[in-house]
Parts: sequence; C-alpha cells; structure tokens
Amino acid sequence: MSEIQMPGIALSEAELAARIRHAPTRARIVSPEVAAGHIRDGMTVGMSGFTRAGEAKAVPLALAARARAEPLKITLITGASLGNDLDKTLVEAGVLARRIPFQSDPALRRAINDGSVMFVDQHLSETVEMLRTGQLGPVDVAVIEAVAITEDGGIVPTTSVGNSASFAILADKVIVEINLSQPLALEGLHDIYIPSRRPTRQPIPLVHVDDRIGATAIPIDPAKIAAVVITRKLDSAANIAAPDADTRAIAGHLVDFLGHEVARGRLGNALQPLQAGIGTIANAVLHGLIDSPFEQLTMYSEVLQDSTFDLIDAGKMVFASGSSITLSAARYAEVIERIEQYKPRLVLRPQEISNHPEIIRRLGLICINTALEFDLYGNINSTHVGGTMMMNGIGGSGDFARNAYLSVFVTKSIAKDGAISSVVPMASHVDHCEHDVDIVVTEQGLADLRGLAPRERARLIIDNCVHPLYRDRLADYFARACARGGHTPHVLEEALSWHTALASHGSMRPDA
Ligand code: COA
Repeated sequence: MSEIQMPGIALSEAELAARIRHAPTRARIVSPEVAAGHIRDGMTVGMSGFTRAGEAKAVPLALAARARAEPLKITLITGASLGNDLDKTLVEAGVLARRIPFQSDPALRRAINDGSVMFVDQHLSETVEMLRTGQLGPVDVAVIEAVAITEDGGIVPTTSVGNSASFAILADKVIVEINLSQPLALEGLHDIYIPSRRPTRQPIPLVHVDDRIGATAIPIDPAKIAAVVITRKLDSAANIAAPDADTRAIAGHLVDFLGHEVARGRLGNALQPLQAGIGTIANAVLHGLIDSPFEQLTMYSEVLQDSTFDLIDAGKMVFASGSSITLSAARYAEVIERIEQYKPRLVLRPQEISNHPEIIRRLGLICINTALEFDLYGNINSTHVGGTMMMNGIGGSGDFARNAYLSVFVTKSIAKDGAISSVVPMASHVDHCEHDVDIVVTEQGLADLRGLAPRERARLIIDNCVHPLYRDRLADYFARACARGGHTPHVLEEALSWHTALASHGSMRPDA
C-alpha cells in the first residue's frame, strides 16, 4: 500500500481516506509552516482548545517560529486555556497582542499583569455570541484540531468542542489539524448545535442532560478549508494535585450538606445535575461523591475530569455532558482505550451550550466552583490576587453561578501557610456578587447563606468558615462595622487593610 510522507509523519492512503473523507480536501495537506502562512500580522484567529484539551498544536508553533523572524501579532481567541505550553510559547515569541477569553499559563499571566498582553476575561458562554454579532470583530482564520473531515466536509473535533464550531462557521478561512493520535472512535461523541440568531431565537431544545440536539461534526462549506495539517501530538495531562486533608474536609462538608437536603426532601437521591469547575478542590469534591449515598448522578458541566470517569466506573454517575475531556496522563490512556464503552454515557457540546444560562436554569444545576477569596457577606473573588493581579480568569464560573439551582463556592480558609486568609472583610475584586452565592465551604465548615440577610450571612461565615488564625479578628471587624450601622456594615477605611498589609509586608497577620 502506498504511503503519504510528511516530515515526521507517514500514513497509508487508506488511513488518509478514513481521516479525510471529503476527497478534494486531501489535496490541501501542507506543512504547518505553509498553513500558518494564511495567518498574517494583525489578524483575529480562533483556535480550538479548551482546558488543555483538543487544542491546535502544530500551526501555533509554526506561528511562534515565524514571529521570531518577522513582525507578527494577533488577537487569539480560544475556548479556554491551551495545553502543551502553547500560551507560553506564543507569548514568549511575542505573537499575542490580545488574548480572549481564559488562560492559566504562568508566562502569559506575567505578560497580562505587566500590561504587554491585553486580556479580555470573559464569561465562556458569551464569546461566540459577541463574535456572531460582530461585536468582537471578524474571525479571519480558524485553526481546528480534528479526528476527521467527513464526506461533506464536516469537521469532527477531538477532545474538546469549546468555541471551535462557531470559529469554523464564522471564519473566512479554516485550517484543520488532523491528529492521528486521537482515535476515530471519538466520532459520534460530539453534539454540535448552534443557536439561531436573535431576537427571533427559538428555545434551545435541550431538556435532559443526555439529549442530543445537533450534529456529530461541525458543518462548514469545505471550500473554506484552506489547509490541512497532519499531527500526532497528544493533549497534555491535567495538572491537578491529589486530594489532601483540607480538600477531603471540604468534600465531606458538602456531601453532608447535600445529604441533609435529601433528608428534608429538597433534593432527590440523584441530586440535581452537577457542574464542577476544573481544579484540585472541585475535583476532590466530586471524588467525595464516590463514597456518598447518592445514586444515578448526572453531570452537566464544562470539563470532564478524572473524577467524572471515576464516578462512572464506580456506578455512581449515569451520564456526563461537557465541552472537553481533560485528564491525568494515566486516566487519559485508559479512557481513550475504552472510549467506545464510555460513549453512550458522554457528550461533548459547544461551550455556549454547556454553559448556556437558559439550560443551566432549566436543568437546575448544582454548581461547585472555586474562590480565591470571599468576604464576610459572601462576595466571591475568583480571579484577582490582591485585587489587581490576574490569576486565570472567570471561566465559566459566572455562567453557572448566576443561573444555578444551588451555587456553591469552595476554597481553603488560608493560603501560603496562613499568610493569607481566604475569608476577608471585603473582597478585593468581585466576580460573583453575594446575590449569586448560596453556599460557601472551607475545610473549617459550610455556611448555607440562602434566605439570610447580610448580617446573618456574616455571623455564619465567621462561625463556620474562617480559619482560627483569623476568626477573632474578623468577628471584631464585624462588631465594629455593625456599630456604625448599615444593611451591609463595613468600616470602610479598614475594609481592605488585610490586603494592604499583605502587599506591604507579605502577610495579612499582624504578628507576622
Ligand atoms: N490569595 C492569593 N493567592 C491564593 C489565595 C488567595 N486568597 N487562595 C489561593 N491562592 C493561591 C494558592 O496558594 C495557589 O498558589 P500556587 O499556585 O502558588 O500554589 C493558587 O492560588 C491556586 O490555588 P489552589 O488552592 O491550588 O486552587 P485551584 O487550583 O483549585 O485554583 C482558582 C483556584 C480560583 C485559581 C481556580 O479555580 C480558578 O482559576 N477559578 C476561576 C475560573 C473557574 O472557576 N473556572 C471553573 C468554572 S469553569
């Protein structure tokens, strides 16, 4: 059998025909460098990739190499964060003028915080709504990782959908990276549904977590496919730390609380569909459900992480809907090998559907997201260290928190060996205001804020969530604030003093 030869890659004609079933497109296979030539200085580029899953891998590297030799700056829009150190490589090569809507890379974080990259930190459900209506400008080129191109030119994504479908539909030109390391068995996992235009949009016809309402490939005119690149590079593994005593305690408090809700008849034993943010704490909380009494759980979330598959394997979870699969290295190999077995229990959707306010509200999700800090009234800061320095971004947490059945925020009560209290008099930046927050949990305990006025919320948070190192000080602040009066009492000139102490001498503790 004859073989197609490309630098570092050999594939048979049969494999090529299975991967690129639209015959004319096979003639558009080029090197990553040639494909990247479609991207020019000043363009807006939409690339696949969502929480380190399914990102385009070869074209961004070719762009970075070119930017070292000639002026090349772009606006890069993705689904969410990229793997394989691509944000780092791109920022170090000076490619990124503007980055939308989420990132989690230390080098890019530095460039955002020194003002050299303009970062638009956006609710993940909103980016394509703004693109579709021209509010973020046109998409010049889309670069999409795929397992295959179908007979009619449809693009079958890999481990994430993210914003890929709308990028491909809206872009003038599309570059497809066919990743041979991703099995063709992934085809059928995706459900591509694009909402109709406003103001005459019909309701999105998704009423059960496992409903399929769209196509298994991204429908585009194949004439728009300007180039195809063949790659073999895998997604990078999730970098999530194993559960520790604190995260287990947080999980324990939340599982106990959910048990009480079931006992009071406010939740069934299958709870409500679950959403959990990516990260160490949220992953640990989901792990905590493995040993819980709940059964027949479902998930309607963004990222399906190790804990999702552990719950499915434990027989606890019957279906999981997400926008990406982001796993540890060990779990990744197992899941990909058994993907046919998992497929009936999984679906990957565009992020505007996984995070759509209409559906979150309709399904009634229990949403568990992570805070950097929260204040004594339950305002949440998820993004800005010390009120100024960007960490990662709001991601989908706002999409979920505002529309949840139960909006839960978790965090450890202290950070940096106790130099920081994660419960403070006033949040130094607010991503989720008190109106969007029902429950806060630290390893110290849980505060159920539902139906409580600010003064009641503060008492509960101080009693249940604050670390002993800071509890008396926060109680004292609250007492003095109440003496001044107000619906939401504060000692304004002191409200951010814990943060200014941290900035000036590296600790919120007066004795440090
Ligand atoms: N002030 C300053 N730093 C703090 C802090 C605080 N109040 N609380 C925690 N940190 C630091 C930790 O020390 C840690 O630092 P390190 O990386 O130097 O070790 C870092 O923040 C991450 O904290 P960690 O406890 O490991 O939690 P995490 O990995 O779960 O991340 C967030 C927490 C908030 C940064 C992360 O969940 C996030 O970016 N959330 C916003 C987006 C989101 O919610 N997405 C999910 C919905 S899709």
